[in-house]
Amino acid sequence: MKIPILYGPRDLRIEEQPLDTDHLEPDELWIETEITAFKIGTDRGNYEGAEQVPGAPDYPRWVGDSNLGVVRGIGQGVTRFQVGDRVVTRQAHQSEYITRESASIVKVPEGAHPEDAVFAHLYALSALCYHKAHFVPGENVAVVGLGVLGLGAVALGPLFGARVVGIGNSPVRLEMNERMGAHAGFLYDDPDLEAKLDDFTGGAGIDLVILTANPWPAYRTSVEIVRPDGRVSIVSLMGRGEPSLDFNPLAMEWFYAKGISLIAVSGPPADLYPNTRQPSLEENRFSAERTCAHVLSLMAEGRLEPKRLITHRFHYSEMVQAYEMAYHREKNMLGVVFNWKD
Ligand SMILES: NC(=O)c1ccc[n+]([C@@H]2O[C@H](COP(=O)([O-])OP(=O)(O)OC[C@H]3O[C@@H](n4cnc5c(N)ncnc54)[C@H](OP(=O)(O)O)[C@@H]3O)[C@@H](O)[C@H]2O)c1
Repeated sequence: MKIPILYGPRDLRIEEQPLDTDHLEPDELWIETEITAFKIGTDRGNYEGAEQVPGAPDYPRWVGDSNLGVVRGIGQGVTRFQVGDRVVTRQAHQSEYITRESASIVKVPEGAHPEDAVFAHLYALSALCYHKAHFVPGENVAVVGLGVLGLGAVALGPLFGARVVGIGNSPVRLEMNERMGAHAGFLYDDPDLEAKLDDFTGGAGIDLVILTANPWPAYRTSVEIVRPDGRVSIVSLMGRGEPSLDFNPLAMEWFYAKGISLIAVSGPPADLYPNTRQPSLEENRFSAERTCAHVLSLMAEGRLEPKRLITHRFHYSEMVQAYEMAYHREKNMLGVVFNWKD
């Protein structure tokens, strides 16, 4: 099988590694990859040698975790999947692999286009930005940072009942923000941002900010624009690969005086009404897999289309090119997919 391995900063090599698909264990699946998607934010950091994410492997390491493929073989004990099923997993970029049924595998429903479905786990993370903050339909939501996760949050907002405004750092991204269905879009350094948001919310203010950008100026914008007692849902890895902080992030004027909540988007949301009577369903109602299945159902209904944002389609052998473009922070580069068919 073929797999790209990152040996160090800007040293990505596509390798051939053996894979024994003839001796599957009872709970194993053999999956052949069709396409993978590029998680730009995190993978650019790994590629440029930024601070390691806790729990992530050191070099040499695999890259990527948005993989769409077809089940080619199953062990005797596998019950949830069949040969021929199309599935999305959080496995790395690679041509084929073996995984256990207990891993994060979600079946792609009929009607969901592969170039939408391959982004399902990333959009599930965008959805988690709402769930973790216990979003309420009708709330005003500002998304600060319009990359893959930010534009995923923009696209999901109206489907969840939010009024959404995108806050970006370039006109190209504001155009994509509009294409994904935002109600409004502004630049983060717009001198009239406060007045424009006041007008956008009819004076009610921004109830929830979803922060997806690592640089500290984006954090500052977020705590400045959220209304008193509002929430800032932070999915970004603050400061990773960025210039260091030059202000107090918990300054009294923002934190104490406004009484805001800062929420880390990692791990499942608190389940307000957990199912305590059916042990088999005790899993969190909005686990990553259940949220991924919901996102896929919206794609199958044609209401959620990440493929609208695909700017580059590469053959996997051209992967280094894509990582170099991310390294140079190409603004026109957003949705990127890799084709694994030789
Ligand atoms: N919590 C988790 O479990 C989890 C999982 C996956 C990813 N992440 C993190 O989530 C973040 C978002 O991922 P992504 O793939 O969407 O990343 P991304 O493509 O880097 O998106 C962030 C966007 O925000 C822009 N930006 C930078 N400063 C800004 C500012 N002051 N105001 C407005 N926009 C600004 C960036 O522009 P530039 O390119 O010019 O900087 C970029 O376009 C990354 O930090 C990633 O590591 C977290």
